[in-house]
Amino acid sequence: MKIKQALTMSALGLATFLNSCGPKSSNEQQDHEKVEAASINADFIKKNIDFSVQQYQHLGSLVPEDKLPRTYNKEEDKLIPSGTSWWTSGFYPGTLLYLFEMSGDSSMLALAEQKLEILEKEKDNKGTHDLGFMLYCSFGNAYRITGNEHYKDIMLQGAESLATRFHPETGLIKSWDHGTWSYPVIIDNMMNLEFLFWASEASGDNKYYNINLSHADSTILNHFREDNSSYHVIDYDATTGKVIQKKTHQGLADDSAWARGQSWGLYGFTVMYRDTKDPKYLEQAEKIAAFTLEHPNMPEDLVPYWDFNAAASDTTYRDASAAAINASALLELNQYTKDAKKAEWYKSAAEKILLSLSSEKYQAQLGKNGGFILEHSVGSLPHNSEVDVPLTYADYYYIEALKRYQDWFLN
Ligand code: GLY
Repeated sequence: MKIKQALTMSALGLATFLNSCGPKSSNEQQDHEKVEAASINADFIKKNIDFSVQQYQHLGSLVPEDKLPRTYNKEEDKLIPSGTSWWTSGFYPGTLLYLFEMSGDSSMLALAEQKLEILEKEKDNKGTHDLGFMLYCSFGNAYRITGNEHYKDIMLQGAESLATRFHPETGLIKSWDHGTWSYPVIIDNMMNLEFLFWASEASGDNKYYNINLSHADSTILNHFREDNSSYHVIDYDATTGKVIQKKTHQGLADDSAWARGQSWGLYGFTVMYRDTKDPKYLEQAEKIAAFTLEHPNMPEDLVPYWDFNAAASDTTYRDASAAAINASALLELNQYTKDAKKAEWYKSAAEKILLSLSSEKYQAQLGKNGGFILEHSVGSLPHNSEVDVPLTYADYYYIEALKRYQDWFLN
């Protein structure tokens, strides 16, 4: 299916975006008024962190010892767990560690440490590109907080496993081994590069750094469209590195803009700038931010529909996970942009997202939602999998964004 998209990026759009983002239903207008009534300050952060600690204590009591939480089935009031090899396995311990840092509640650290023990074996997993999510969001935070050298060793081994998926013929890290693809690379893969930057620094081996440059440059070249949105999957010829096809897996259509894919790109290119200081990566991140924030289908509360090309309506699913990732990435982009107006734009947008996600529209009631913090994320709508549910990565990036806000704007 071909989708026509009329997008105009303009200075006017930048200046007026807070009042001009897309169609609004009367319900959205009311939500917006509720959202605007609060503001982000130390009390707001504390209230949401205290609430999240209580939720995660509840979630911790429901998760089987040898599993990680994945999502929650509301109809059956049942937690859906995953094994350690599932791509999201690092988020739950990572969130617990952020919550420990922000609250000082040692029950969060104890729950995280128990999960790190079962997660360690993934350091040898060479069958997935998701080791950044699995090992860096978990052990990366654990090492940063505790300084335990064992966590460093686990991550260095994990980074070596991830590097085996880089092949010079393509100059990219291969995303999947499944399916009929030749050499699939998904935009999500940009999220692994933060882990490899860490490995480059920690090991002194710049091969990881060079992998990142190569992967990011090919991604800019092949994943992005004229309007700065990105394809989800690029399939390359494994021997020549030539692009075979540009497709989607989790989006509405091959040429649509799957919301979380745009968020992974925004976060990934912001990290590329953080670790290289090469302006082309900052420029790429800013282009993605503009595409996202100025999109005519972006709802007023800045929690996007699951795909930017999905029809805007009250019944179209939102993706709170994409909003949470955007909030965290925009706060970091605020720190790097050279343009004061853009810096304010990114910060205001992130504030608005955090206010939205902390409102009763997206945040769970205490003791409900299987102990997850946020409701209303979408895993993969085309596969009818995890639609309008809580997801561990929505919680992770929401808490990360609250932490960034506290560290960078309130201290
Ligand atoms: N990396 C898979 C996803 O974002 O759903």
